[in-house]
Parts: sequence; C-alpha cells; structure tokens
Amino acid sequence: MSTEKTLRVAICGGGISGLCLAVALSQHEHIKVDVWESAERFKELGAGLMVFARTWRIFQLLGLEANFSAATHTKPDPSVGYQFRRSDLGEEGFGWHFVPFPYGCRTFHRAHFLDVFVDGLPPNIVHYGKRLSSYKQDETTAEIILNFTDGSCATCDLLVGCDGIKSTVRKQMFSTMAQREAKPEFLNFVDPKWTGTIAYRGLVPATRLVGPGGERHRTLDSPVMYCGKNQHLVAYAISRGEMVNVVAYLTDPSKENTVPDSFDWVADCDREEVLQTFSSWESEAQVLLNNMQNPTKWNIHKISPLPNAVDGRVVLLGDALHAMGPHLGAGATTAIEDAFILAILLGATSSPDTLDLALAAYEEIRLAQANHIQHLSDEAGHMFELNSSYRERLDDLGPAIARQWSFLADTTPDDEAKRALDYRFRLLNSSDLAWS
Ligand SMILES: Cc1cc2nc3c(=O)[nH]c(=O)nc-3n(C[C@H](O)[C@H](O)[C@H](O)COP(=O)(O)OP(=O)(O)OC[C@H]3O[C@@H](n4cnc5c(N)ncnc54)[C@H](O)[C@@H]3O)c2cc1C
Ligand SMILES: *[C@@H]1O[C@H](CO)[C@@H](O)[C@H](O)[C@H]1NC(C)=O
Ligand SMILES: *[C@@H]1O[C@H](CO)[C@@H](O)[C@H](O)[C@H]1NC(C)=O
Ligand SMILES: *[C@@H]1O[C@H](CO)[C@@H](O)[C@H](O)[C@H]1NC(C)=O
Repeated sequence: MSTEKTLRVAICGGGISGLCLAVALSQHEHIKVDVWESAERFKELGAGLMVFARTWRIFQLLGLEANFSAATHTKPDPSVGYQFRRSDLGEEGFGWHFVPFPYGCRTFHRAHFLDVFVDGLPPNIVHYGKRLSSYKQDETTAEIILNFTDGSCATCDLLVGCDGIKSTVRKQMFSTMAQREAKPEFLNFVDPKWTGTIAYRGLVPATRLVGPGGERHRTLDSPVMYCGKNQHLVAYAISRGEMVNVVAYLTDPSKENTVPDSFDWVADCDREEVLQTFSSWESEAQVLLNNMQNPTKWNIHKISPLPNAVDGRVVLLGDALHAMGPHLGAGATTAIEDAFILAILLGATSSPDTLDLALAAYEEIRLAQANHIQHLSDEAGHMFELNSSYRERLDDLGPAIARQWSFLADTTPDDEAKRALDYRFRLLNSSDLAWS
C-alpha cells in the first residue's frame, strides 16, 4: 500500500501536555514535530504537582525515569498518603482518616517537572512567541494551515491542541462544529466555566515549620488534607522537602457555572484575606497560611465534558480536552497519558492516509476516560468540603474518598496502549475490506 512518508505534527502549546507529546513523538523517525508556544519561554508556576505510579510507568516507557527521579526527593512509599483532618470547628482539629497512596505518589516542583521534558526535546522544534489565532483545513490537500497573531503561517498534517483550559483550538473546533452541524449546544464547550471555588496558593519554606525545640509541622512528613464545610486546605512537601506547597480552597456551591464576581482569573492577595477566610480553623492550618510566600488567588475553572476529541485532522489533548478541578491531582496525569497514547498511535501510523484511523482510536480510548476522571475529580472536591451525598458522615466518607483514586489501578498504561493499537488495527482491517 502506501510507502512511509513524513507525518508533520504541529503542537499548539508548550505546557506539560505539549512538551510530553513532543518528547514522545520525537522518538519516531517518520514524525516531524513543531511546538508553537505563545510565550517567549516555557514557564510553570512555582507550585507543586503530584503524579502516581501510573504516570511513572509512562516515564519508564518513554525513557525519562532517571531524569524524573533526579527531580524529586520522594520515593513511592506505601506508608505515605493523605492524613484527612476536620479543622474548621474553632478548636484543635482531629484526624479522621488516612488515605494511603498505594499508587506510588511522588511530588514535584512544577518548574523542575517541566524541565525534564524540556531537556528531552530535540533541538530546533520549538517556536516561541507564536500565538495561534486560527486554523483552516484545506479541503483538497487535507493539510492544516495555521495562522498566528503575528501574521505568519505554517502548515501541518495534524494539529494537536495542547493549549490549555482556554484553548484557541477547542474554541474554533466547537464553534465550527456548532455551525456546520447546526448544533448550537456545541457552543457550550467553547469557554471554561467557573466552579464557584477560589484557591489561595503559595509556598511555605520548610525552615518556618520547625519549632525552636525541633518540633516539626505535620506537613513536613506527610501530605495533609484539612477539611471543613465548603472549605479545605491541602499541603505537601516539594523541592526535596525544602518547601511545603499550600492550596486553600473556598467554595460557594451556589455559584457553580456563574461568572466570578470579584476578580477574573488570578490575582495577588494579601495574607490578611486568607487568614480571615480561615479564622475559625485549627492552629496548624493557620500556621501554614501565616507563612505562605506571595499568596495568589485563583478562580478555579473547568470545562464541560466534551462530546468529541477530534474534528478532521485536529485533535485536543490535556486541559484543552478535559480541564478539571484539581482535587485528585489528576489533570497532568491524565494529560501525560493522552500524550503517551496519541504518540503510540501516531508512531504506528506510517502514512497520512491512515491518520484518521489513529485519531479515531485516540478518541475511543481517551475521551470517555478523560470525562470519567473529570467527574471523579469534581466529586472529590465536594467530598473534601463535606458537601457530597455523605455530608459529614466521616466514617463512610473516608473509604469513599479513597475509591475516587482507584481508577489509577484499574488498568495499566501498557494495557491501554495495547487496547488503542488493537482498536486501530480493527479499523484498519475493516477499511481495507471496504476499499477492496
Ligand atoms: C491549583 C491546581 C493544582 C493542581 N495540581 C495538580 C496535581 O497535583 N497533579 C496533576 O496531575 N495536575 C494538577 N493540576 C492540573 C495541571 O496543572 C494541569 O492539568 C496541567 O498543567 C495542564 O497542562 P496543559 O499543558 O494541558 O495546559 P497548560 O499548562 O495550560 O499549557 C498550555 C500552554 O499553551 C500555551 N498557549 C495557550 N494558548 C495558545 C495559543 N493560542 N497559541 C500558542 N500557545 C498557546 C500556553 O502559553 C501554555 O504554555 C492542578 C491544577 C490547579 C489549578
Ligand atoms: C536527562 O538530562 C540530561 C541533562 O540534564 C540530558 O543531557 C539528557 O538528554 C536527559 N535525558 C533524557 C532522556 O531526556
Ligand atoms: C490566515 O492568514 C492568511 C494570510 O495571512 C489570511 O489570508 C487568512 O484570511 C487567514 N485566515 C484566517 C481564518 O484568519
Ligand atoms: C452543598 O452545599 C449547598 C450550599 O451550602 C447546599 O445547598 C447543598 O444541599 C449541599 N449539597 C449536599 C449534597 O450536601
């Protein structure tokens, strides 16, 4: 049939999703990768990130294990997990459940995490300062033409939207489909929606958390989830134990899907505001808030579960596909698995002629799973703030929370890769039949 040709893949966005995909694709000789990034350089927030054994397995398969090991002080240790505490009762709180991480959790500073991908990139594939404004599919050549805000253009065989929660690619994809297929409900997928939750984020130097007699704050030695009604606070050590990452959440459940009232996306905030919001909280939580460096506040947004991941030769990945609440720490994990599966499928695609089969298999394997994880993550947020169907029944709530993470062990990335390739293979054979 067709001979091996170069597949030109354009990746829009150089965050965790885009860079992981670029590293994975550059391992295949027949694929030419370009990364188009709007910023002048790669950047990640000075904050924490955790990943589980499932993601670690993907790093092994991509040959990145050693470099990721060097970027974290944490080892998968079955005695590590979240201590859950009730903390909002105006007195010392109490521990009510321990959720171990049987899934080999490791924590990172975000910038160190991104650097591992940056180090793994081949030279000259990244184009900075390039903001995609629109794309167009040429009906005769099936090529995609990319337009950037600086007036320049580029072409590719496949465009992957790795451009995050506010994705330009998703915006155009769903506005176009809404019009073409006369489905105005598709406009619902264009913009992110506010969850009604504000997150106060900041890092605390570990030195501030050791008392004069050497007493260590609980969070130096274990991740902790401090819970209260419509509020919770999560803290864990990163940067080889030199910093504790703190995120304090405040939710107004009646505001879900409304427009934020006080600020738009992110704003600086003074410590007083945070302290006031958590004034009835137990003292060990307040110690963290009192020592947060340069706290910022974020309106937490998500997107509605999408009905499609692919339109023609344009495909979505990462937050562009499934921006979710941060409660399971699963956004980057899910993005990395999307990238891994797409790279496996494209690696097995030796000609642009069979590209559509690879994309159909990607959508089949990833879309439902991404939507499922997004749902689990939203539910977890309600659970941590005692606003799930379990309310304040802590004895039942603890095990229920642990189950929210069990998707991590239901399958393996190896199985998922095999399932994706099998699916593509079945499509390939059935289309061979149809063409003969
Ligand atoms: C408070 C909080 C805590 C979190 N904690 C965790 C955690 O512990 N574990 C976890 O797995 N996940 C966590 N997440 C989620 C995780 O951060 C995201 O899922 C992940 O960063 C998404 O990566 P991305 O590459 O898809 O998008 P982004 O990181 O948003 O990257 C998008 C990139 O595209 C570029 N771009 C945007 N538009 C254009 C354009 N038009 N043209 C060119 N370039 C463009 C941007 O500049 C950016 O570099 C958390 C999220 C939050 C908010
Ligand atoms: C690991 O990092 C080193 C230097 O930081 C780099 O030279 C090497 O290429 C990296 N390996 C991979 C597989 O990315
Ligand atoms: C893309 O850019 C070309 C050339 O600059 C221009 O003619 C075309 O109208 C642009 N397309 C869109 C959809 O903006
Ligand atoms: C969640 O909180 C809101 C407002 O506080 C309340 O109306 C709703 O009933 C709660 N849901 C559950 C399941 O407790």
